[in-house]
Amino acid sequence: VYQQLFSARTKLVAITHASNVIGTINPIKEMAAISHAHEVPILVDGAQAVPHLPVNIKELDADFYVFSGHKLYGPTGIGVLYAKQKYLDLMPPYQGGGGMIETVAFDQISFVKAAQKFEAGTPDIAGAIGLATAIKYVEKVGMQTIYQHEQQLLLEAENKLSAIAGLRIVGTAPSKVGVISFVMNGIHPHDLGTILDHEGIAIRAGHHCAMPLMERFQVPATVRVSLGLYNQSSDIDALVAAIELAKRMFA
Ligand SMILES: Cc1ncc(COP(=O)(O)O)c(C=O)c1O
Repeated sequence: VYQQLFSARTKLVAITHASNVIGTINPIKEMAAISHAHEVPILVDGAQAVPHLPVNIKELDADFYVFSGHKLYGPTGIGVLYAKQKYLDLMPPYQGGGGMIETVAFDQISFVKAAQKFEAGTPDIAGAIGLATAIKYVEKVGMQTIYQHEQQLLLEAENKLSAIAGLRIVGTAPSKVGVISFVMNGIHPHDLGTILDHEGIAIRAGHHCAMPLMERFQVPATVRVSLGLYNQSSDIDALVAAIELAKRMFA
């Protein structure tokens, strides 16, 4: 299907590395090879991949790769936009300000080299220090360790959730990050979300900024559980107990 989407009008492939809704890890390396065979650059949204698995952007051969600071246990309002050097050199700045100008005269302007030419104005210094600290922290814990911990929890959560009568997991890709979307017979996701919240369990209910995906699965919304490095087995048991409580309330 992916192959068939390319036409002479295709300028850029933009794809998520890992789905924030159903956890699917897309085969980026293969997808990048296909887009490059069509001479189309590929932009990968790694917001949900970078916090959960070891990522080697060069090995994936992504032309652009983006992720958010706050999903990597860092500050909000800052993220990373990686681009291959050739695109950094090729692209003009999209906004002007301090720190990105090399020379300026009334009739001409030149800019400093990338990445500084894209960093107009005083940068988010505190954010960058915070994000660097977050990166050092996850690297110290080890991305492979985080990945394995979350995969173990994912397996356990999927087993325990699928044993609940009336619960249906949405999205069953073989390769997933620790994200599980589900729907419950007879309980709207938002009602379930409210009850779980009262029980001290933070999940997200809604369309997760992915309405076409909701349409694809024919659901109005889902309840989404997202596992992080700080979660443990007892959190899954608490989740299951709270879902059972909600079921009794709606029985
Ligand atoms: C896959 C994905 N991309 C992008 C975003 C948006 O990130 P930000 O809020 O940093 O723009 C999110 C979550 O909000 C996400 O899950």
